[in-house]
Amino acid sequence: MKILFYDTKSYDRDSFQDTLKDFPGVEIEYTKSDLDPRTAALAEGFDAVCAFVSSDVGVKTVEILHNKGIGLILMRCAGFNNVDMEASRKYGIRVMRVPGYSPEAVAEHAMALALAANRRLYKAYNKVRENDFSLSGLMGFNFYEKTAGIIGTGKIGAAMCRICRGFGMKVIAYDVYENPALKDFVEYVSLDKLLSGSDLISLHCPLMDSTYHMINIGTIKKMKDGVILVNTSRGALVKTEDLIEGIRLHKFAGVGLDVYEEETNNVFEDRSDEILEHSTTARLLSFPNVMITSHQGFFTREALSAIAETTLQNALDYEAGRESANDVK
Ligand code: NAI
Repeated sequence: MKILFYDTKSYDRDSFQDTLKDFPGVEIEYTKSDLDPRTAALAEGFDAVCAFVSSDVGVKTVEILHNKGIGLILMRCAGFNNVDMEASRKYGIRVMRVPGYSPEAVAEHAMALALAANRRLYKAYNKVRENDFSLSGLMGFNFYEKTAGIIGTGKIGAAMCRICRGFGMKVIAYDVYENPALKDFVEYVSLDKLLSGSDLISLHCPLMDSTYHMINIGTIKKMKDGVILVNTSRGALVKTEDLIEGIRLHKFAGVGLDVYEEETNNVFEDRSDEILEHSTTARLLSFPNVMITSHQGFFTREALSAIAETTLQNALDYEAGRESANDVK
């Protein structure tokens, strides 16, 4: 079984090479190029390709992969919105993914953002490096006995609920389905009640038509003054222009974002003055109470090895012709 691994970063190679020891018979060749219609032809002579959220696995790419004899696309991530499933089905190419690898990795990062934004750790770090040991601008508030409002209580949201409980917070949640595992310590409430009653709001629901821009000026105005907002899910859950307006209205004590609407527009790859001038992300970064990280929630050793393990198991299931819960239908 030969896999061509696209968009390789050094940490991908390390975790996959390490896991490969337990999968004799699987061979991986790594390329730095990402998968798209120009690079799909490189897959000639391989059985499968391994791709990521950034890959362009549209109709054209799928067609070329089919012509080169590829029978399997291994997505080393949960999402598959960048794969044209109709084309994959048409050409009989199986698509497999890694639905959940380490919910704690993302939830712990969400809490790290909440704490860093609350206590202005990024500012404190820079001040002390400049030999400024004063505390001005660094005051936060205790999380203990405050209310955490968790929107979306699936795998990651549930892990965040447990972390907030550990901090001694009251935990309320909003979801279209209640998670029975949380019934002992989480109170489900309406979205409005969550918005008006929470000191910390953390988003953990997927991006769908029904959740697109769910945080907008209307919902922001319903929040408590001095709330902390954290988004580690998908940028477009938050309408950035409205978030900026909310920050200007002094609604937020802090905002921590691991994801942002412009993530896919290469805003910070191009870095031209013109692009940055119109970038809402760059505008967000100009506020002292906003902290942004670059979609690193998943990025822990444990999560990477779980991704490698599941991806390689998916490859074996394909080879053996076994059905799998990780099949994208
Ligand atoms: P999950 O599928 O286990 O949970 C999602 C929850 O959201 C479910 O309980 C679902 O009922 C709920 N939901 C659906 N529609 C909703 C609505 N309209 N309002 C409120 N809740 C709603 O997903 P999981 O694994 O917990 O992941 C959550 C999100 O985290 C993913 O969709 C993804 O966007 C993001 N993510 C971010 C990563 C990062 O590195 N920052 C890494 C992995 C995932």
